[in-house]
Amino acid sequence: NSMATDPKNLRVKLVLLGDSGVGKSCIVLRFVRGQFDPTSKVTVGASFLSQTLALQNSTTVKFEIWDTAGQERYASLAPLYYRGAAVAVVVYDITSEETFRKAQYWVKELQKHATPGIVMALVGNKADLQENRVVSSQDAMEYAERNGMFFMETSAKTDNNINELFEISILLKE
Ligand code: GTP
Ligand code: MG
Repeated sequence: NSMATDPKNLRVKLVLLGDSGVGKSCIVLRFVRGQFDPTSKVTVGASFLSQTLALQNSTTVKFEIWDTAGQERYASLAPLYYRGAAVAVVVYDITSEETFRKAQYWVKELQKHATPGIVMALVGNKADLQENRVVSSQDAMEYAERNGMFFMETSAKTDNNINELFEISILLKE
């Protein structure tokens, strides 16, 4: 189990999965550095970052974040990163139906191969692009409910729901 037992200093292994270009690396950059990079480069293989959050009652949570590469050629590497993860965040882009289908593929793969009891989040990113929306919140929410996941829409660009995403994932894990 990737969750440490010391209640004061928790460690959470979290993996992000989803199609290339949905904004996984931008979500992580926003969470870890408070920045947005509109020229973000595609991830090669995977990248690792960590970030510690202080909670109430002197508890800290160290997120060990695996930001995977969404390009098809890297799909076979994904098990290396989601294996043993406490939390899996499956990201799609609200302006792309194809990325929502790809998210459903990842959910099925996690259901088959991830550690039982893994917390799964479905995240619709680029929520700032409302005028280009093609995936309705309702459809995504219902899909998430049917699959026992929590659902959230985020924007790495405007910093909407990014901290909340990470905070909620530990509440569900505890
Ligand atoms: P791979 O590494 O190939 O898997 O892609 P990725 O999911 O990591 O995508 P990345 O974070 O690199 O984002 C791709 C591009 O999407 C960025 O360069 C941004 O321009 C854009 N982007 C990411 N998040 C947002 C967002 O919340 N809103 C808007 N408008 N654009 C975003
Ligand atoms: Mg990336």
